[in-house]
Amino acid sequence: MAAQIIDGKVVSADVKSRVKKAVDELKDVGVQPCLATVLVGDDPASATYVGSKQKDAKEVGIVTRDHRLAASFKQNELVELVQLLNNDPAVHGILVQLPLPKHINEFAIINTLSPLKDVDGLTPYNAGMLQNGMALLKPCTPSGVMELLDYYKIDVSGMDAVIVNRSNLVGKPLAFMLLEKNATVTVCHSRTKDLDEKLRNADLVVTAVGNRQRFTLTADMIKEGAVVIDVGTARLNGKLAGDADFDSVREKASWITPVPGGVGLMTRAMLLKNTVSAASIAKEMSQ
Ligand code: GUN
Repeated sequence: MAAQIIDGKVVSADVKSRVKKAVDELKDVGVQPCLATVLVGDDPASATYVGSKQKDAKEVGIVTRDHRLAASFKQNELVELVQLLNNDPAVHGILVQLPLPKHINEFAIINTLSPLKDVDGLTPYNAGMLQNGMALLKPCTPSGVMELLDYYKIDVSGMDAVIVNRSNLVGKPLAFMLLEKNATVTVCHSRTKDLDEKLRNADLVVTAVGNRQRFTLTADMIKEGAVVIDVGTARLNGKLAGDADFDSVREKASWITPVPGGVGLMTRAMLLKNTVSAASIAKEMSQ
């Protein structure tokens, strides 16, 4: 039987309506949630992502600041901008779009962010809190994956989960989130031995490779009835596609996320949720 679809449109709309309500409640008590985005350089994909984030924020009543800087912007200037935003009480969330140009040390910038405004959940403080199951702000993509599983009541407890990605934005934080829900987690990457065998034994497969030439998840690679969460975004014959060969994998999986219409929408929605959480934290700290 074909897998059931995990619909990011439905779940992201649900998250956004809850965020909008929370924004309205904050406005009623005099707090206007505000997200500052910082984009360095002129990468067109990054510019599109930031544009979407700005548009989403406005839709739910979050105001935005839009900092677009030349690729030649220096690391110390970027540190100063982040410090300025950290100290601005009207700004609740700061998103520095990654990747940054090569002459800027990403960790130095992330480490400058106030953990209270870190709506990507990337600061060492928030990453450490996540490992302890206590993070206030968590990375948006893995949070979105967990929200999808939760919405469809897919209980991962005891599942063997395989994540194909080890980044700070996706694979590592997702591993901790799944562990917290009692899954047994294997984090795989380009040097993993016997990836096929690991995938074939997995109850839950999360892939985030984004390069179909290097990696395509096909039906023969998964176990019958596996849950497949596709975080990949690749171009295939001019169209947006995930890591999975959707039509074939769908025939063997029990649940699957489409691309587009799956995790990507959740990443966007969770940024809004984090911004409103950051605004609530700021309000509580000012009392
Ligand atoms: N670049 C690609 N994805 C992301 C993300 O979720 N946050 C940031 N800051 N940069 C990204």
